[in-house]
Amino acid sequence: MLLEARRISKFYPGVKALNSVDFSIDAGEVVAVVGENGAGKSTLMKILAGAIEPNEGELYLDSNPVEFDGPLDAQRHGICTIYQELMIVPELSVVENVFLGHLKKKGIFLDWNTMRKEAQGILSRLGLTASLDAKAGDLSVAEQQLIEIAKSMSRKSRLLIMDEPTASLSKDEVASLFELVHSLKEEGIAVILITHHLHEIFEICDRLIVLRDGDYIGASDINQIDEAGLVEMMLGHAVDTYDKGRRQNVKSDELVLKASGLTRAPYIDNVDLTLNRGEVLGIAGLMGAGRTELMRAIFAADKIDSGVIEINGSLAYLSSPRNALNQGLGLAPEDRKTQGLVLSMPIGHNATMPSLSEHVGLLGLNLRKEAAAAKDLCEKLLVKYASLSQPAGNLSGGNQQKVVLAKLLGAGTDIYLLDEPTRGIDIGAKEAIFDLIWDLTAKGNSVIIISSVIEELIRVCDRIVCLHLGRVTNTYERGDFDLNRIMLNAMGKSGEGAIQ
Ligand SMILES: Nc1ncnc2c1ncn2[C@@H]1O[C@H](COP(=O)(O)OP(=O)(O)OP(=O)(O)O)[C@@H](O)[C@H]1O
Ligand SMILES: [Mg+2]
Repeated sequence: MLLEARRISKFYPGVKALNSVDFSIDAGEVVAVVGENGAGKSTLMKILAGAIEPNEGELYLDSNPVEFDGPLDAQRHGICTIYQELMIVPELSVVENVFLGHLKKKGIFLDWNTMRKEAQGILSRLGLTASLDAKAGDLSVAEQQLIEIAKSMSRKSRLLIMDEPTASLSKDEVASLFELVHSLKEEGIAVILITHHLHEIFEICDRLIVLRDGDYIGASDINQIDEAGLVEMMLGHAVDTYDKGRRQNVKSDELVLKASGLTRAPYIDNVDLTLNRGEVLGIAGLMGAGRTELMRAIFAADKIDSGVIEINGSLAYLSSPRNALNQGLGLAPEDRKTQGLVLSMPIGHNATMPSLSEHVGLLGLNLRKEAAAAKDLCEKLLVKYASLSQPAGNLSGGNQQKVVLAKLLGAGTDIYLLDEPTRGIDIGAKEAIFDLIWDLTAKGNSVIIISSVIEELIRVCDRIVCLHLGRVTNTYERGDFDLNRIMLNAMGKSGEGAIQ
């Protein structure tokens, strides 16, 4: 046995994040920690990695009691973590980020040649094509995720903790990551995996443990449980989310948004796009396809080189995101940490931020009204919180993501642009988000959605546009959705049955 945790408890004001949880992992074993948003997964990982101290319980390394004096100490003992919220330093280059905290030296000089060679090796195994000298802050969330993974691969570790490493990766990228995990396993390195994509657990893990509301629910060998059984353990009751039908088609003939010739070198190249009232339009594509850039260009978050946007049939001159918001566009950004939320501000204020003016009366801000609106929004999205006055940064990752959506919902726009809205969201809440999207369209709103999980787009969209290297390769109508074709298209290969 490599690492064991016994009767671990962690309390925060009003929250039992972990309640007497047991955990253990052997060398060369891959173990999944499973549970809904806020179940306590990340808290347990932070305790194993020495990043926070438990209120109760003990850790044993190689069967000896151990107390880590911070995360660096845990690293010295061979425990490395890829945290759920990315820790990339945006101003530093890719290679500097990979070796941050353990720069290699030759004598008294930094050995950049070796570091570059090693970084390049790991990154190409992971399928990341970005230059070693690129500024990390300029890369997409998915690329930053791969840098985080490379960072911990570059250290000598005995246990690698991966907290939702695949949340923003597409199938191919997940496949390369899992190949790496296989080779680590063969070298005797233990891996803990957290993911809300449950099928991944069955692909790569030997064993799983389930947490619910901070309680230890149980453990199972992977070949003694199926997905339905796992979901039941997670939620405490069975669900049939997968068989739930799709809402009626409410797409009308009225064009609400038309983009023509949108170009922003080198990210998007001459993209045409249309969106009808009541429609859910999906954008599929791999990392670097330009999906986020396309959405940001429409929202006027980035300046375009050329192209025009029409809203409700007339030319729209969108000068800034605020201006876009005034013209009925709203964006839920991909990066919740830097663009989506003010982490130090209370959950409630975050949720109502764009709609604050609605709660201002003669005597200034009507706090009671604002709190009621925030509560309503958070309940709609199943946010799990102890109090609305808690800082948003104290929420679990998935619950922060829900607040990003609550905030946009509160803004009450006409056209919703959702960039990876389901990133890090558990399966129950994912259904709530799909329901919400369908409710919005039934009310006459329109939605553009990006997801790296094509199955999700197939489930929720009326139409899917495939983007590759900044260009639209194909468009599919709901009746012609085909997972393989869409995937091929997103990879830049031709697929049959497309409209264009
Ligand atoms: N610093 C903190 N202060 C207060 N409460 C906290 C803090 N950190 C975590 N919590 C609470 O502890 C609980 C468990 O959070 P944790 O981040 O471990 O969940 P999780 O299982 O990782 O969820 P997710 O799938 O959303 O990432 C949540 O209710 C969360 O709000
Ligand atoms: Mg978490």
